[in-house]
Amino acid sequence: MELVIQLTYLVASVFFIYGLKMLGSPKTARKGNMYSALGMLMAIIVTLFDKHIINYEWIIIGLIAGSAIGSTFALRVKMTGMPQMVGLLNGLGGGASVLVALSEYYKIVPEIPVTTGTTIIISILIGSVTFTGSLIAFGKLQGIVTGKVVKYPLQHPINALLLLVVIAIGVYIVINPGNADILLSVVGVALVLGVLLVLPIGGADMPVAISLLNSYSGLAAASTGFVLQNNMLIIAGALVGAAGIILTLIMCRAMNRSLMNVVLGGWASAGAEGPAAESAGPKGDVKSVDAEELAMILDSVSSVIIVPGYGMAVAQAQHAVRELANTLEKKGVKVRYAIHPVAGRMPGHMNVLLAEAQVPYDELIALEDINDDFPNTDVVIVIGANDVVNPAARNDKSSPIYGMPILNADYAKTVVINKRSLNVGYAGIDNELFFYPNTLMYFGDAKDAMSKLNSELKEL
Ligand code: TAP
Repeated sequence: MELVIQLTYLVASVFFIYGLKMLGSPKTARKGNMYSALGMLMAIIVTLFDKHIINYEWIIIGLIAGSAIGSTFALRVKMTGMPQMVGLLNGLGGGASVLVALSEYYKIVPEIPVTTGTTIIISILIGSVTFTGSLIAFGKLQGIVTGKVVKYPLQHPINALLLLVVIAIGVYIVINPGNADILLSVVGVALVLGVLLVLPIGGADMPVAISLLNSYSGLAAASTGFVLQNNMLIIAGALVGAAGIILTLIMCRAMNRSLMNVVLGGWASAGAEGPAAESAGPKGDVKSVDAEELAMILDSVSSVIIVPGYGMAVAQAQHAVRELANTLEKKGVKVRYAIHPVAGRMPGHMNVLLAEAQVPYDELIALEDINDDFPNTDVVIVIGANDVVNPAARNDKSSPIYGMPILNADYAKTVVINKRSLNVGYAGIDNELFFYPNTLMYFGDAKDAMSKLNSELKEL
């Protein structure tokens, strides 16, 4: 039986890796999810044949309760609530690792080899930090905990001290494993550390923090795998750990920020939560258009690139945008969507919304594949995007977003920007593009504005 279990683990691992690879493209992501879920199902089923299981009652109760709660939440969660849900799931993963490590410790104490003792302490440390850190991340996104960047005196020395305390007690326990009570103090200090590490991070930086916590939950699981000597847990945990850190770094690179800058509170203070900060004031004259004037311009063009951003998500304008694109396409206009990797507030935010509105995947073009096409494009319609088209990232060395890759919307013959005002976006900085000679501002809520424009265009 042991051989069958290990071979099934191997097959399940292949499903995980293949599934992860498929998550790399919106076309195959759904299937990738299914493959990974199938791998997990196989792993769970064969694990139930493990010789160490002496009764199934609690396992069955856990399976039924967990599946019922998980599927209910997953079915009911709104697309905008996905980051919090992922955050909560990471936290539960971390918490589970702590409980497993604790129970293994109490089961084998005092005969605990140094290697097992060390992995138990690592599981408890990372799992506890992930648990409370994720709960704080969830609270910030849900509006239960302040989304502001929280700063207090001696913040970093206090965190460093807590980490040292955990390590010191951990080393003591590994050397003197019989002292069971003191182990709970490691849990306590690590739980506090999780709160203090995530509390300072601004609410809008939470997607990056959640991705990092996701990576931690994987490391906690892998370490618990070493405690239990379970290969599946080690492999699955390592995959989650690696995937989480890669996603975190992709997000940081796309924002041109270091991981440290995000983790320590960085420039998120400008747009840490709620409505964007006020603009420092107009930098020149803007040319604005109404729906009728814009429809007349669009009636005579041959190519349009749509740049969606956070405002489209807030306004839930994706269906109106899709209808506008349909009308343009019926008039013979070539329409494509330029997708910036950090447009919106979560990875793949724009892809998910546009897929919901049935926009064909092959019309969604990534930044690096579309940036050279802007100069040959008649009109770019920027819908609720701001930072991701801000030329300061290319031109202004003093700008906090200098160096961040942007969509070269300003190179198009005409740029139409739809937003409600001249207010700043997430980075909290002005956008000179609003004042460019080839820019037309089309003010209004994205959903209303796109619907009006579509109606006008249909009448021509
Ligand atoms: P932002 O720069 O945040 O700008 C969004 C704009 O949408 C705002 O300036 C706002 O202007 C407008 N807006 C808000 N509600 C609207 C509505 N109902 N109708 C029309 N417009 C509306 O968005 P972006 O260009 O998508 O850039 C994303 C930013 O988030 C980047 O700075 C990125 O680094 C950051 N970020 C992204 C992620 C991920 S993973 N995507 C994670 C963390 C941080 P008005 O108020 O004038 O309407």
